[in-house]
Amino acid sequence: MTVTKSKDPIAEFNKWFAEAEAAEPVNPNAMTLATCTVDGRPSARMVLLKDVSDQGFTFYTNLESRKGTELANNPLAALCFYWKALARQVSIEGSVEAVDDVEADEYFASRSRMSRIGAWASKQSRPMTGRFELEKRVAEFTAKFHVGAVPRPIFWSGFRIVPKTIEFWQEHQFRLHQRVLYTRAGDGWKMETLYP
Ligand SMILES: Cc1cc2nc3c(=O)[nH]c(=O)nc-3n(C[C@H](O)[C@H](O)[C@H](O)COP(=O)(O)O)c2cc1C
Repeated sequence: MTVTKSKDPIAEFNKWFAEAEAAEPVNPNAMTLATCTVDGRPSARMVLLKDVSDQGFTFYTNLESRKGTELANNPLAALCFYWKALARQVSIEGSVEAVDDVEADEYFASRSRMSRIGAWASKQSRPMTGRFELEKRVAEFTAKFHVGAVPRPIFWSGFRIVPKTIEFWQEHQFRLHQRVLYTRAGDGWKMETLYP
């Protein structure tokens, strides 16, 4: 298997992603998200890709979480996908923008009711005295919304990574892997191959 040299890395990503969806039984959309504090302390965690387009790569989270705070203060991020079954990696770097309210509302409404209540109940990334505290909050918000609509919390939304670079990596024999790096250049993309 080789990396196809397309002029459009998003089209290339979509092709690889479709193959990952067919090959990976669990969460082919899982990606590592790296963020950084303004004073240069990096952190990384997994999130789920919920949309990809020419505009960028979108995920959703609690805006008051560690990642949310870091992105608010330093809107730069890196993403990394690894699809074991295909021996492929895609690494993305770029700036980050907020998903608009209409798009976030639409995505939030598509989640299960319990996931929507969970978003209200979780003070993501902040200390908790014990599991019971979380369960109590889930019960409180379940009672609060009763059978009515569960709106999107103001502190819960999406971020879109607008890519500056996208690198495709395909494993090859003897560690002579193939790497193709796309770098944004004006309206298009510059393409280079890199030593493995
Ligand atoms: C496979 C996987 C997918 C995840 N997806 C998300 C996600 O889409 N959004 C999210 O906020 N957390 C997600 N998490 C949890 C995060 O990895 C992380 O624990 C949480 O967001 C808190 O991160 P922070 O304290 O660095 O902000 C996921 C975890 C795993 C293992």
